[in-house]
Amino acid sequence: MSKLNIESKIELNNGTKMPLLGFGTWQSKDGKTAYNAVRDALKAGYRHIDTAKFYGNEVSVGKAIRDSKIPREKIFVTTKLWPTDAINAEKAFDKSFDKLDIGYIDLYLLHWPVPGMIKKNWLKLEAIFKKSGKIRAIGVSNYSIGQIKSTLKIATIKPVINQIKCSPYNYNQEMHDFCNENGVVMEAYSPLTRGSMLEDVELEAIADKYGKTPAQILLRWCVQKGIPTIPKSVHKDRIVENTDIFDFEISDQDIAKLDNFSKL
Ligand SMILES: NC(=O)c1ccc[n+]([C@@H]2O[C@H](COP(=O)([O-])OP(=O)(O)OC[C@H]3O[C@@H](n4cnc5c(N)ncnc54)[C@H](OP(=O)(O)O)[C@@H]3O)[C@@H](O)[C@H]2O)c1
Repeated sequence: MSKLNIESKIELNNGTKMPLLGFGTWQSKDGKTAYNAVRDALKAGYRHIDTAKFYGNEVSVGKAIRDSKIPREKIFVTTKLWPTDAINAEKAFDKSFDKLDIGYIDLYLLHWPVPGMIKKNWLKLEAIFKKSGKIRAIGVSNYSIGQIKSTLKIATIKPVINQIKCSPYNYNQEMHDFCNENGVVMEAYSPLTRGSMLEDVELEAIADKYGKTPAQILLRWCVQKGIPTIPKSVHKDRIVENTDIFDFEISDQDIAKLDNFSKL
């Protein structure tokens, strides 16, 4: 395995490259909180930021990105279309685009599948992609294998990503294999289990062995498996802690052990 670092990227099926380690912003309140979190994340070296219309913080996220003075093309930014907005998807995209105010969107995702609207909503996203010229790549989130299959059947542009909840505690090997076989990258949200498993003794034992924190083990597990991930924090020390995952390697044996934490 070539050595990973904070700049390591994964190539998406349209040639776009996305940093493996990104930064999440769900529940980072618009205003000072989200602004400072994204500012601190960019200072800590993250170059991939995940937001969504639903998070209500696109204005602050965009401002922190602009104020960083980091060249726009060095930062990968994802935002998402909320299901009930799909009825007027073009308007919803324009709003997200204006709020972020960063020139273009790297990745625009359908935030949740809508049963009965899988094909229709994908074609709407494709239309916005083609018409706007302001999006680099499009994908989906929270899709099942069946829903991705339905999408692939009618897609003239293949989704690049399925962003789903993923950590050793809910690792869907079947989804990962399916995505790999079909050129769709599986991206992990809630990689830290929203904090719920960070005191699990089995995880703590592995963390102690490597002299790392439980959070760092969970994130290293993702990037080492080639799964891009987007941990969230509004605390500077944790934002930095979550980047410190590139100076060690988890053994194959321990990766297998972590894979088996899953109850799926
Ligand atoms: N597509 C979707 O439907 C979807 C759904 C959920 C999430 N997401 C995306 O994925 C991102 C990450 O997921 P998430 O926010 O659900 O959960 P997460 O990243 O698994 O966990 C975030 C929680 O862990 C805490 N935390 C962060 N670093 C820590 C550390 N080093 N030690 C201890 N606690 C730590 C944070 O607290 P503090 O902030 O207080 O530090 C926060 O409470 C979201 O922010 C969002 O961008 C997407």
